Amino acid sequence: MKVLITGATGLIGTHLSNLLLSHGIHINYFTTDKDKIKSLPSFEGYYWNPEQCIIDKSAFIGVDAIIHLAGATIAKRWSSSYKQEILQSRVLSGNLLYKTLKENPHQVKQIISASGIAVYPSSMDENYDENFTDYADDFLGNVVEKWENSVRLFNKIGIETCYLRTGLVLAKESVPLQKLLKPISMGAGAAFGSGNQWQSWIHIDDAVKIYYFALANKLSGIYNVVAPQPVTNTMLVHSIASQLGKRIILPNIPQFMVTPFVGEMATLLYDSQKVDASKIISEGYKFRFNEVDEALKDLLSK
Ligand SMILES: NC(=O)c1ccc[n+]([C@@H]2O[C@H](COP(=O)([O-])OP(=O)(O)OC[C@H]3O[C@@H](n4cnc5c(N)ncnc54)[C@H](OP(=O)(O)O)[C@@H]3O)[C@@H](O)[C@H]2O)c1
Repeated sequence: MKVLITGATGLIGTHLSNLLLSHGIHINYFTTDKDKIKSLPSFEGYYWNPEQCIIDKSAFIGVDAIIHLAGATIAKRWSSSYKQEILQSRVLSGNLLYKTLKENPHQVKQIISASGIAVYPSSMDENYDENFTDYADDFLGNVVEKWENSVRLFNKIGIETCYLRTGLVLAKESVPLQKLLKPISMGAGAAFGSGNQWQSWIHIDDAVKIYYFALANKLSGIYNVVAPQPVTNTMLVHSIASQLGKRIILPNIPQFMVTPFVGEMATLLYDSQKVDASKIISEGYKFRFNEVDEALKDLLSK
């Protein structure tokens, strides 16, 4: 089997590529950075630039499925021009893949796209499953909706579409986890806001195994990619502290103290999404990490 990955050089893409290679899957990947192009026997890089409509069509030869992860990081201050980049990097890249497949012969049968749980409006009470359609009317909610709509186009040319609404990925090298770890390890950690907001997390190993599961089982439609047991911000912060042998003694940090430093991006810490993993479980996926304590123990003890 041959898979084309966009964004293969990022956090999820790197772990996913290793997993797919271990299953004997050949990977072609697109990168916007010529320095990241490798030409290994089963891992071949190709240059693209979605903004300028540049794409190397030879990357599609023999490809059975596409895994679309490309997108500018949201962990960077959201100026108005950068907000455009967050949106365009996802939508223009999807559009360019679509246009290329529409206009050229190919054998692609499925596209699996990363998506985000930010599509669900912030709520302390809702338990979001994939049937919820009253999407968040804020910046990230709109980005996710347009991103998924750009992928939906592939249905028109007979390609199965699968949307993996991914929660907060916990990995040793993930930026949000590193940002939480630093103050806690120095004894200066605290929860944010009321601390009651839900954080629907997932261990990186489960996240990439679900991407592989969607590929191997030819899934189509929307799936939440979160662990079965979401936690509140207070629980997350205390769990990290306990793994580090630290205590949380400082009072919670209110949003008005964080916003001047990070701007609108503060919503990532203060919004609440309790997201349900039942659908992927009902397909037969078995989680390795159900509880945040075991996930963090695994990541922080390595
Ligand atoms: N990590 C999470 O917690 C999480 C949660 C929910 C959803 N997601 C989504 O899942 C996807 C993968 O996440 P990740 O954490 O692996 O992201 P990441 O580490 O930031 O990697 C994303 C990749 O996208 C490519 N990229 C960056 N800017 C681009 C642009 N302007 N145009 C085209 N490609 C661009 C880069 O590859 P090149 O430099 O090789 O081009 C980069 O390696 C992202 O779309 C992200 O929004 C992630």
